[in-house]
Amino acid sequence: MNETTSDHPAAEPAAVPAHVAIVMDGNGRWARQRGLPRTAGHRAGAKSVRAVVEECLRRGVAVLTVFAFSSENWRRPQAEIYVLTELFMTTLRVELRRMIEHDVRLRIIGDLSPFSSKLQQLVTEAESATQHNQALTLQVAINYGGRWDVTQAVRRLLSEVNEGTLALDVVDESALAARLVGADLPDPDLLIRTGGEKRLSNFLLWQAAYSELYFSDLMWPEFDADALALALTDFARRQRRFGQTSEQIRARHSSVMEPS
Ligand code: FPP
Repeated sequence: MNETTSDHPAAEPAAVPAHVAIVMDGNGRWARQRGLPRTAGHRAGAKSVRAVVEECLRRGVAVLTVFAFSSENWRRPQAEIYVLTELFMTTLRVELRRMIEHDVRLRIIGDLSPFSSKLQQLVTEAESATQHNQALTLQVAINYGGRWDVTQAVRRLLSEVNEGTLALDVVDESALAARLVGADLPDPDLLIRTGGEKRLSNFLLWQAAYSELYFSDLMWPEFDADALALALTDFARRQRRFGQTSEQIRARHSSVMEPS
C-alpha cells in the first residue's frame, strides 16, 4: 500500500472536531453517591445532554452522537428500563421546540422495533420536524450496538448480492461503511466516555476506528459545558496520523503553510 496516500482526508489537526460521540456513563453512581435512586441520575443526565448540545452549537461541532441505551441495557431491572424510555419520550417532547429554535436536526440510531408504537411515532415526528435543520445533527443511539450495526450492514449487502443488484466483487470497506447507520455523516473525530471506565462498550465500533479517545472521571450528570470545553482543548492538541508517520504529517503541514 502506498503510505503517502490516505482515505482519510483530515490527516491534519482540526481545531474543532466535526463529530463528537459520547458514552454517557455514571448516572447510577452519581445518584448512589447522593443517596438517590439510580433513576434520579438518569434525570440529571438528561440535563447534561442539553448543556453539551448547547456547547456543541457554540463551538461549531457539526455532529453529536450520544449513547442513551445500548443493546445490552435490556438486562437492567424492568423498572429502570421503564423510567429510561419514559424519560426519553418526555425529554423529546420538551426539547423538540428548543431543537427547532436552535436549528438542531435529530436522528435516532438503533433498532427501535422492540419499543412501543408511541415511542416510535414520537421519534418519526421529531425527526421529520427537524430534518432540514443544519446547525447541529444530534444522533441519539437507542437500543444500539456496534456489532448490531455491522451485522445489519452485512445483511443488507448480502440481500443486495442475492437480489443481483450488487456484485460481490465490488463489496469492499466503503460498501460496508455505506450501509452502517449514519453513513452520510463523518466518522467521530473525538469519542468521549465519562464515569471513569475506559472501554468502548460496543459503541460505534466501525466508525470509531480512528477516533481520538478521551476519558473523563466525571460522572455523566457532572459533565457540563466546561468539561466539554476541556475535552475539545485536549483534542485540539492531538496529532492525528491515520497510519502516517509524524514526519509525513509535519511535512504536509509545512507545505500547506508555505506560500506557493
Ligand atoms: C449510563 O449510566 C447511562 C445510561 C444507560 C442512560 C443514559 C440516559 C440519559 C443520560 C438520559 C436520557 C437521555 C436522553 C438523550 C433523553 P449508568 O446507569 O450505566 O451509570 P453507572 O455506570 O454509574 O451505573
